[in-house]
Amino acid sequence: MPITNVPVANHPKPRFLLSSLRAAPMLPLWLLQLLGPSKSFEKNPILGSRLLNRLGLHVVRVVVAHGVTRLRWLFLAPLLPRAQRRQYREQGFLLVRDYLPAGRFAALDAEVRAYRGEVRECIQGDTQTHRTLLEDQALRDLPASRSLVYDSAYRRVLQWAAVRYGQPLIFIEQVRNGFVGDGGYDPQKNLHADTFHPTMKAWLYLDDVTEGNGPFAYVPGSNQLSWRRLVWEYRQSVLGRDLPDSYARRGSLRIAEGELPGLGLPRPQRFAVPANTLLIADTFGFHARSPAQAGSTRLAIYADSRTNPFNPWPGLGFHWTSQLRYRALQWYRRRQDVQAARRGGRASWHLVEPETGQSDPTVS
Ligand SMILES: [Fe+2]
Repeated sequence: MPITNVPVANHPKPRFLLSSLRAAPMLPLWLLQLLGPSKSFEKNPILGSRLLNRLGLHVVRVVVAHGVTRLRWLFLAPLLPRAQRRQYREQGFLLVRDYLPAGRFAALDAEVRAYRGEVRECIQGDTQTHRTLLEDQALRDLPASRSLVYDSAYRRVLQWAAVRYGQPLIFIEQVRNGFVGDGGYDPQKNLHADTFHPTMKAWLYLDDVTEGNGPFAYVPGSNQLSWRRLVWEYRQSVLGRDLPDSYARRGSLRIAEGELPGLGLPRPQRFAVPANTLLIADTFGFHARSPAQAGSTRLAIYADSRTNPFNPWPGLGFHWTSQLRYRALQWYRRRQDVQAARRGGRASWHLVEPETGQSDPTVS
């Protein structure tokens, strides 16, 4: 796979490291970011340095991050049966059908559809994603959701997959396909890895997922750090900030389906699954939203966790530290609202009226 086969952006950028020296006051921050989850070749000129990536900066970060994750998994092994741990590590996902007893699922489903809480929306291409954060305040009005969020088996499997004792961020999520008339192509429909280290995303589907409403697609085994994957990561990192895709330049690398055999990987698997299926995936593995019919939606309880991949300590899982992260997210979103309003625009995750929220999939 020669590097020259990968198309690059048309307009060459100025010599990166040299020009960035003018921004010397930022240097301590950029250096500090090397020890954390920062991934953008574009925003951090050290991460994006072609010279440093030729010397192996990116691949060293990938290898060390995966090694540290392995170490953290040793601490967390008692949380999950060995068979499930092995399947997740080998395939990159876990799938559990009929996850909740029928009565509990029906109560959860009805409760979520009736709920009118604070909804935030992100638009990517022609797709709207609506999310409501299930923090403790919201859960006071949502007993069935609270029972799920505090369910010990649910917490354990998410903690293990997220490789941390703390609670992930959990939301009501509705993906709304084709709801933006002139939005263009949804970038999440391209196969990609979210970042350079293992991360966890999970969905407990409240809707049946069909070929029509854009099932999650995942390349089995693409979570593994094979030699061929590492070579691919190296070549991508050398292109780094000249990669043609803006998401890739920001560290979420894209891959064409035709490249998968070269990495020894199979075709993506689409998870068209019935409601009440729990799907957990390591999104270092290649994944995408599948194409969907315009106007279709899918509703789920969604969980998301991204940790510092260089921290070997899996945390202690105190309730207050988890809630602190929820508060921090809310504060960050509100700050983005204010900043965007000053510019006369909207934040990427902006508020929408509950009446048009995820709880009523018929409303567009
Ligand atoms: Fe993703």
